[in-house]
Amino acid sequence: MSTLLEIVILAAGQGKRMYSDTPKVLHHLAGRPLLAHVLESARTLKPAAVHVVYGHGGERVREAFAQAGVNWARQAEQKGTGHAVAQATPAVSDQATVLVLYGDVPLIRSQTLQELLQAAGSGSLALLTAELEQPAGYGRIIRDKAGQVTRIVESKDATPEEAAVREVNTGFLAVPATRLKKWLAGLRNHNVQGEYYLTDIIAMAVAEGVPIATRSPRDISEILGVNSKQELAQLERVYQNQRAQQLMEQGVTLRDPARFDVRGELRCGRDVVIDVNVVFEGKVVLGDGVHIGPNNVIRDTTVGERTQILPNCVIEESAIGSECRIGPFTRLRPGAQIADRVHLGNFVEVKKSRVGSGSKINHLSYVGDTTVGQGVNIGAGTIVCNYDGANKHPTTIGDNAFIGSNTALVAPVNVGAGATIGAGSVITKDAPEGELTLTRVPQSTKPGWKRPVKKSKS
Ligand code: UD1
Ligand code: CA
Repeated sequence: MSTLLEIVILAAGQGKRMYSDTPKVLHHLAGRPLLAHVLESARTLKPAAVHVVYGHGGERVREAFAQAGVNWARQAEQKGTGHAVAQATPAVSDQATVLVLYGDVPLIRSQTLQELLQAAGSGSLALLTAELEQPAGYGRIIRDKAGQVTRIVESKDATPEEAAVREVNTGFLAVPATRLKKWLAGLRNHNVQGEYYLTDIIAMAVAEGVPIATRSPRDISEILGVNSKQELAQLERVYQNQRAQQLMEQGVTLRDPARFDVRGELRCGRDVVIDVNVVFEGKVVLGDGVHIGPNNVIRDTTVGERTQILPNCVIEESAIGSECRIGPFTRLRPGAQIADRVHLGNFVEVKKSRVGSGSKINHLSYVGDTTVGQGVNIGAGTIVCNYDGANKHPTTIGDNAFIGSNTALVAPVNVGAGATIGAGSVITKDAPEGELTLTRVPQSTKPGWKRPVKKSKS
């Protein structure tokens, strides 16, 4: 495209049928606001400017997208789609081709938009239309005997004959800015809804002999808007199914593509297996041969080759090496750096800690602000007491140390390499390397001691 492109995104709709205090375009699809999806498609077209028309609750939209680098146009009152576009056009260059998108139609593909722009060329008006089984509610595309588009009639204004037409207006269109500005200025609201219809510019274009070109999306889901929570959920499944299909095409095994959720970016190596009900958030990278068991939540994490994540783990902002076995029921909090061949088991929580290769923390432990060496065995119920109520303190555990079960390591403290800590100890001072350290009260037996017996009531 050599012509200058400017994009206008309509996002002033209140979204009454969402029954929500949140502006419609801020509702999430795949973990991101609807508008973020539209902006992403818009940006792939490398426009000279993006204008967002906002209205109801719009200050929140502006705040949420303050860093998006878009121009904001306020539509104080919703007087129709033509009126909405007209709020943005004063800031649009006369040299531009204008592409109109919708903040609540999130699955439009940039490929489709590119085709529409090509159809607009330098002088035409290009419309994205679609054949629907059930066209009710949509504007109908009216063509003459030669098949040329002559106008669009809104559903509410259509005669029964017009209403029978199945080719509908998707709302997406591309048009030269100068013509658009002129036509918008000429719009009237003499229709059933008393609105300024963007669609009325079609008849104006035809009257001036401007050619109308039409294109269609590859998939109907591209043009579906979100007006209710049901539609939001439907589009979420469409989106997730698309992601699932892409991953399977790349060789990923999904136990059930219908129970698959990516809310961000997921990169997978070869022979990755993902069981049901796994939620991926942010940026997740899974190496070759990684197996993810059912019911896991994994956010902003890399997982090394052949590592297994067993069921029911919650893993955030962590890096896991290769050939590890994590879970079931492991919690990795931000800053967990797990080297290769590490085993982390049930009810083990690791935060902001390094765990060296081959180390095992298999049961019921908390490890925070700690550097764990290689080949370390941390017994069941070991707790690192990293917080004194005011500050966090570090702990180090040297290579091949063995920490007995139910040990409390009171930070700051160091356990030397090869040291052994007796079970049940409370370690408050450094434990020397290679030695057994324990703080246990010696066991004793009272020979012949008898349990008390209940006094008989006389
Ligand atoms: C519009 C089209 C119709 C098309 C349908 C596709 C017009 C007149 N009609 O109808 O031909 O088949 O979309 O879904 O264009 N908006 C504003 N400000 C307004 C009015 C609307 O920002 O004053 C935004 C809405 O937030 C929404 C979009 O424009 O994102 C479409 O508005 P909506 O009221 O849903 O239009 P429809 O009547 O469905
Ligand atoms: Ca609509």
